[in-house]
Amino acid sequence: MQYANLGRTNLRLSALGLGTVQLGMAYSWGQQPPPPENRAISLIRRALELGINYIDTAAAYGRSESLVRRACSGLRCRPVIATKLSIRRTDSAQLLTGPALRQSVEQSLRQSLQTLGVDVLELVQLHSLDTRFATPELLDLLAQYCQRGWVRYWGVTTYGQEAPLDALAHPELIYALQIPYSALDRRMERQVIPRAQAQGTGVVLRSIFLQGVLSHRLASLPAALAGLPPLAAPLLRLAEDAGMDLAELALRFAVFASGAHSAIFGTTSTAELEANIRAVEAGPLSPDLVAAVRTIEVADSTLLNPGNWRVSTP
Ligand SMILES: NC(=O)c1ccc[n+]([C@@H]2O[C@H](COP(=O)([O-])OP(=O)(O)OC[C@H]3O[C@@H](n4cnc5c(N)ncnc54)[C@H](OP(=O)(O)O)[C@@H]3O)[C@@H](O)[C@H]2O)c1
Repeated sequence: MQYANLGRTNLRLSALGLGTVQLGMAYSWGQQPPPPENRAISLIRRALELGINYIDTAAAYGRSESLVRRACSGLRCRPVIATKLSIRRTDSAQLLTGPALRQSVEQSLRQSLQTLGVDVLELVQLHSLDTRFATPELLDLLAQYCQRGWVRYWGVTTYGQEAPLDALAHPELIYALQIPYSALDRRMERQVIPRAQAQGTGVVLRSIFLQGVLSHRLASLPAALAGLPPLAAPLLRLAEDAGMDLAELALRFAVFASGAHSAIFGTTSTAELEANIRAVEAGPLSPDLVAAVRTIEVADSTLLNPGNWRVSTP
């Protein structure tokens, strides 16, 4: 496993990180229920044994934070745990302001500190932003929690371009972006990743399997996702020609060809976890294969955002 500093932070992350939404709650287009708690904890521990040292969680992911705490308890070498909080009104896209913002942030941080059982949260990400968000009031509030020693670094998780570009305008406070990216969805390569690299902001990729669509599951998607197989067909052909499965191609492309510091994936299966470790250990794809992937264009990117899928996703 390779490790790299997350931009200008002193957090050293494994090239692959473990996302835990599907361990904490029913998730994704199949609304697959999470595994039993003991299996979820074993899976997190197995990931750590195999060299993963970065875990992505959130208070909003059901029992995920609690599972992460239990999986990490007693470890001499603790992983970097990134959690999240929302700055939106409940059930609304509107961003919180004033006393409601201050109360919500304080309450979320207290809860995550307690549930994760730590004295400081190493990376807290503002969750699922898709518009400009960085008001002077918010930035001042974020700075206060660093000064109080509750939060070491702030980051954001985003959709689209507007939110990550806004985050990149505040490198003094926002140290990391978590962005959707896959071999099929390379939109963040145009502006966001190059700007982040130029200024030393950390970049973590998510949805590198497009919620599992870029895998053997491509052949058995529900009717609501019938638009995806034709988009992914050229990628599947490249994988078959190269003698690897689609998930391996998707993972090795995202990890090695994107310029990101780490890429997280979700799984409920130890076999998939181990396959992903083997894939990253196989190293970069050949330059010809990388170039061939880059020729694949998706004319209508609407379906690349799971938020637009007409199946329920959290
Ligand atoms: N806005 C946000 O902040 C946000 C949004 C989405 C996700 N996230 C984070 O990002 C993490 C990953 O995102 P994601 O779950 O949406 O996308 P993903 O990692 O692209 O896809 C996860 C799915 O891929 C399947 N998978 C994993 N490895 C595989 C393999 N080797 N072969 C075949 N299938 C494989 C898993 O299926 P099984 O479950 O059946 O094992 C899993 O459900 C989440 O856990 C969460 O921590 C954050």
